This record gives sequence, structure tokens and C-alpha cells, in this order.
Amino acid sequence: MTKSYKTVLVEIKDGIGKVSFNRPEKKNAMSPQLHRDRAAALQDLKYNDEARVVVLTGVGESWSAGMDLKEYFYELRDKPKEWEQVRLIANSWMTDALQNYPKPTIAAVNGWVFGGAFVPLISCDLAIALADAKFGLSEINFGLIPGGTVTRMLIDMLRPRDALYYILTGRSFDGRKATEIGLVNYCVDTLDDLWAEINDLGKELCGKHPVALQLAKELYRNSRRMDYQQAYDYSIAKVAQLTELEKGEWYDQGIVRFKKGEFRPGMGHYDRGKNV
Ligand code: COA
Repeated sequence: MTKSYKTVLVEIKDGIGKVSFNRPEKKNAMSPQLHRDRAAALQDLKYNDEARVVVLTGVGESWSAGMDLKEYFYELRDKPKEWEQVRLIANSWMTDALQNYPKPTIAAVNGWVFGGAFVPLISCDLAIALADAKFGLSEINFGLIPGGTVTRMLIDMLRPRDALYYILTGRSFDGRKATEIGLVNYCVDTLDDLWAEINDLGKELCGKHPVALQLAKELYRNSRRMDYQQAYDYSIAKVAQLTELEKGEWYDQGIVRFKKGEFRPGMGHYDRGKNV
């Protein structure tokens, strides 16, 4: 059973939880209500075992046109307490909650992505876009700077020349360019292709051990802040944790099945539904 929200649509099918920005008439701009709904929806899906992979997308022709310039910025201009409250909720779901999400997350970029929407996009583990989707760091065009964690995240994700080019010019670019500069994994030509790719990728991820996926993400994200020795020690601890949580499945199923010649790990995962 999925809950319903005013500005976010949640659907689960075949292990894939789809969370859609749902203000198509406003290009899915992120209003205070939308931030509250997104935070709650992600929290609910986190504990819903039916969703093993989570896809973030938008209803209509936008992924998200970024922060709602009217409701988030202008209308809260003279309400500092309310603004801080919304700002903290927004920052929390778009960065911490998404980056530390225990399940794989995929951005299915179906259209416009501007400004603040770069944060949840970059926080997702993977991203596939429509070739014609339009991206832009438009803040400079209305006299602002990419605030919150936008700039910080661009530093991690893009080469300095690309980041500064788009920060300073505010020029938009399409899904092909987003692929070239490493903002998304790849792009496809049609909406049907986008959903075919997302479903294939989601299905593939659903076939892996969920604990291995969760700890692989933790190891990647946390190692970025460590030196080699720390990362090495941390990885040893993570493998021990994995072995305990998986009850040794990677030895008893993964390696034993390989030894028996049942599958080749280099070519894909084993069928977790079948006993060895
Ligand atoms: N905040 C608030 N409202 C937004 C919005 C945003 N970020 N982006 C779009 N909207 C609203 C428009 O105000 C309009 O509402 P209205 O019908 O009540 O007037 C509606 O969405 C449709 O937008 P419109 O501009 O008519 O659509 P378009 O197809 O001509 O252009 C965009 C689409 C996305 C290019 C354009 O809306 C835009 O530039 N939006 C701002 C993007 C931005 O700078 N975001 C950064 C935020 S940090």
C-alpha cells in the first residue's frame, strides 16, 4: 500500500518504487508543500519492502524546474522562521536522505531540470535522461547564485571548466551534453526508450542482494572523504558487516555456485530465487 500526497505521486511495480514530482502545471517547481511531500514519500518508501529500487521522475514534461521561485523564495522572503523550516526539510531530503538512501536510486530525467533540482539529480546514484531534456543553472539569469548545496555538488560531479561555464553563463544544455559532461549516465531518444531502460536497470538491480547494494553505496560515498588507509580499513569492516547481515550468502551462494560452474559473475548475477 502506498500513501498519497498532494504534490508527489508514488507507485510501486515489480520492485521498483517510482516517486514523481507532481505539479506539472508549474513544471514541477519545488514548493514548500512539495519538499514536505518528497521528504515523507522517501521516508515511507525506505521502509516499504515492496520497493527495492527507487526511481525519481516528474509528471508531464518536466523533471523539476527547481525551487519554486514564488512560493519558496518570494513568499517566504519576510518569514525567516518558516523559510528556515522549509529550507532545512529541503536540504535534508535532497542531500542526506537521498545520498544515504539504503536502496539504489535512479533519476529518470523526462524533461526540464533547473537550479535547485540539480541537487536531487546529483544525489541519485544513477541518472538516465531524454536526449532532449533541458538542464540549466539558471540562477545567474535572475541575479542569484547556485546556493544551498548546488555549487558544492557540482564540484564533485563536473570538471571545473564545465561547472563554471554553466554556473556563470546560465546557458541551458540537453541530455546529450549532460551525458558528455558526466551529469547523467546516458540518454535515450524517446520517453518509451527512457522507461524501457529504467525498467531494465531497475529489474537488474532488484536481482542483486539488497544488503550488498546498500553497503556498496555506503562504501563508495563514505570512502570519498577518506585517505587510502582509512578507506581500506573501512572496507574490511564493511565486508565483515556484509557477511554477517547476508549470513555468508556471498560465500555460500555466490562463490559455491561459481565453483559448481552454475554461473559466471563476470556476465551477470546468479538467480537468487533458486537454492544452490
Ligand atoms: N518556480 C515557480 N513557478 C515556476 C517555476 C519555478 N521555478 N518554473 C515554472 N513555473 C511556473 C510558471 O510560473 C508558470 O506558472 P503560471 O502558469 O501560473 O504562470 C508555469 O510554471 C508554466 O511555466 P512557463 O514559464 O509558462 O512554461 P514554459 O514552457 O514557457 O517555460 C521554463 C518553462 C521551465 C523554461 C520556465 O518556466 C522557467 O524558466 N522557469 C524557471 C526555471 C528556473 O530558473 N529555476 C531555478 C529555480 S532555483
